[in-house]
Amino acid sequence: MKKLNVCVIGTGSISDMHLTSYQKNPYVNLYGVYDYSKDRAVEKGKKYHIDNVYEDLESLFQDPEVDAVSVCTWNNTHAEITIAALQSDKHVLVEKPLSLSVEEALKVEAVAKQSNKTVQVGFVRRFATNTSVLKKFIDNGKLGEIYYAKASCLRRLGNPGGWFADKERSGGGPLIDLGVHVIDVCWYLMGRPKVRSISGNTYTKLGNRSNIENLSFYKAADYDKANDNVEDLANALITFENGASLMVDVSFTLHSKNDEIKVQLFGTKGGAELEPELTIITEENNTIVNMHPQIDHLTFDFENAFQNEIDAFVNSCLFQHEIVSPVEDGVELMKILSGIYEAAEKKGEVLFSS
Ligand SMILES: NC(=O)c1ccc[n+]([C@@H]2O[C@H](COP(=O)([O-])OP(=O)(O)OC[C@H]3O[C@@H](n4cnc5c(N)ncnc54)[C@H](O)[C@@H]3O)[C@@H](O)[C@H]2O)c1
Repeated sequence: MKKLNVCVIGTGSISDMHLTSYQKNPYVNLYGVYDYSKDRAVEKGKKYHIDNVYEDLESLFQDPEVDAVSVCTWNNTHAEITIAALQSDKHVLVEKPLSLSVEEALKVEAVAKQSNKTVQVGFVRRFATNTSVLKKFIDNGKLGEIYYAKASCLRRLGNPGGWFADKERSGGGPLIDLGVHVIDVCWYLMGRPKVRSISGNTYTKLGNRSNIENLSFYKAADYDKANDNVEDLANALITFENGASLMVDVSFTLHSKNDEIKVQLFGTKGGAELEPELTIITEENNTIVNMHPQIDHLTFDFENAFQNEIDAFVNSCLFQHEIVSPVEDGVELMKILSGIYEAAEKKGEVLFSS
């Protein structure tokens, strides 16, 4: 059987998770790489024994041997690269977020619908084992009707700087970078209800706190302490057409004791904590019971989740498996993220019509 020839576009930090996972998939031939930075592309090419390092995107897209691409570039180019790839007949796995605006996301969706190619959005938390185990419990009715969820991802010190802190390239700060994941996983597990209204706030009170000493944190390759124009905290209340609601808070920096990640869902028959560790809460014989599933990955495990994500993408390209995180969900997430930024800007509620 012919293997899927895959190229990775954008060979920075996250590309390693894509490249390593493709390398482990028996149906994939790692075929090429491209980056604005030729040096970075050449280095990754060597590391993963990849023959083709393209000079420009045009030649990558015109190469008929290329079957699929992973888009691992800055957020501001996800939509245009995805559209160009689809128009050149390639399958696409695009990193989150799908785009910087709802309009752009809708354009990608329209082109995707015209093509017979797979478009998968990189909502990697959907592919984590703790998420898929919880989803089975939810689908079997263990939680009943889920009417409330809470998603929190707080860094006390962790603005990566570089393009992450440049709104033009990133689209925003912790909301679009971290919030996208925790909002998505809640929304997915809630059954992907349509959004009805959003209120939210963004704050730029602390800046990037480049003054802090003796505490290390991840910095982008092009970190420059002088450049930062994104929010450092965002919070929101999202209400859905079915009456359910989701409360979110995310930060790049905050005067909090520790970093914190928490994802919780509450239903009529039970509840669940997905992060920091999967627990299912229920009631039996008039007793509250906390259940602890015995699985390898109780918490989000990067390598495991990425491998599952890449395997799922390959299976939908080659074997037409259902797409777990399709382009329509990328569009809905952009509605939610843009809605939060809009609500914060106008200091009022944003309403959506169905
Ligand atoms: N799924 C996850 O958990 C996860 C984690 C980290 C980053 N990401 C996403 O992955 C993407 C990349 O993030 P990163 O941390 O690897 O950033 P990075 O800065 O380490 O790497 C980005 C690379 O893309 C290149 N690039 C940017 N625009 C390009 C273009 N139009 N054409 C060619 N090359 C281009 C840059 O030169 C750089 O080498 C972002 O969209 C980010 O949101 C996802």
